[in-house]
Amino acid sequence: MTRVGIIGCGNISRFHHEGYANAGAQIVHVADVRIEAAEKVAARYGAQASTDYRAVLDDPRVQLVSILLPSSLHSEVCMAAIQAEKGVVCEKTLTDNAAASARVAQAAVQSGRFFTTGYMKRSFPAAQQAKVLLADMGEIISLYARTWQPFGVLWDETLPVEYTTHPSAVVRSYGGGVLVCGGSHILDLIHWYAGRPTQVSGQMQSREGLDFDIQTNAMLWLPNGGIAHFEALWHPHEFAGYERNGWDERFEINTSRGRLDFYTVKWDLPENNGALLVHQDARTGRVTEYRYPAVNPFHIEMAEVVRRFEAGEPGTPSAWDGYVVDELIATITTSAQLNGQTLPLRYKDQVE
Ligand SMILES: NC(=O)c1ccc[n+]([C@@H]2O[C@H](COP(=O)([O-])OP(=O)(O)OC[C@H]3O[C@@H](n4cnc5c(N)ncnc54)[C@H](O)[C@@H]3O)[C@@H](O)[C@H]2O)c1
Repeated sequence: MTRVGIIGCGNISRFHHEGYANAGAQIVHVADVRIEAAEKVAARYGAQASTDYRAVLDDPRVQLVSILLPSSLHSEVCMAAIQAEKGVVCEKTLTDNAAASARVAQAAVQSGRFFTTGYMKRSFPAAQQAKVLLADMGEIISLYARTWQPFGVLWDETLPVEYTTHPSAVVRSYGGGVLVCGGSHILDLIHWYAGRPTQVSGQMQSREGLDFDIQTNAMLWLPNGGIAHFEALWHPHEFAGYERNGWDERFEINTSRGRLDFYTVKWDLPENNGALLVHQDARTGRVTEYRYPAVNPFHIEMAEVVRRFEAGEPGTPSAWDGYVVDELIATITTSAQLNGQTLPLRYKDQVE
């Protein structure tokens, strides 16, 4: 039975520890600077609680750790976990900058130990079925992908003080705005489905008083010559989207042999609805809807983590996959600062 350490007991934490418990792993040590948060989680599993993440890494019982801290701490804690010879699950984004992510990815590969970056949207059954179908759909010609997430207060006349005090609560936890928070998942799926983009042009919008983006648009040139259109937006429409709850995240992938439409569901309420995939076959005209039960993608992700860890298989998405997203975020951001100038992507594992 895999013995797990949990580092960080904030919003995301329950999806990991419940996922591990569901997969039959044992949670043995939990850390958070807020001891009451660590103790609450530890009590559920009869685990030890600490305030210092190093106590988890020094615990010889712990084989695998989930790093669930603000993204600015990921680099330091990932490096320490690799040094301590633990398997690692690091929540997205891998770090808060591409150079640090490349260093983590390099160290993870050199260690030969299990490492995965927590992009759980790959675990929706609809996302996996899309990957299967794409293998027989030919070249991607055009891909439209967006995450629209409801965040009405950002559109109010008076902005809440936690967002106008800098660094804002959003930047402290995630290292950026909607591009980093929601957009990172979409960029992960784009490069999983279509390969690593070769160049990018980006635009970012905010509101006066904010230190993060609330809208980012980009065009990404795909390796086979197709184009991906990307948008991440925190919007004010409470009832928009497939679930009519403001969550409006979808993909339209057009290939030489057909089209896929893929709708995800709100990340923290996956028990409400199943994600939906629609396949149109351009050769026969046949349309197939893949409707799935409302499953929690974190449970699928953690079950796969435990299975792979126990089988000695590498983690997926890998540390380099996590790095690719951070490189895309960095290049889109630079392009936006240059008023949308088209910039080439240079991936550190390919040029060095
Ligand atoms: N996969 C997803 O959809 C998803 C969703 C939300 C968050 N995340 C990611 O998960 C990570 C955590 O996000 P969150 O929303 O849970 O943030 P959060 O702020 O709610 O939780 C972070 C926790 O870390 C603790 N902490 C801070 N510094 C610490 C330290 N030095 N040592 C030990 N504990 C420390 C805090 O007390 C807090 O409990 C982020 O990287 C975020 O991007 C991913």
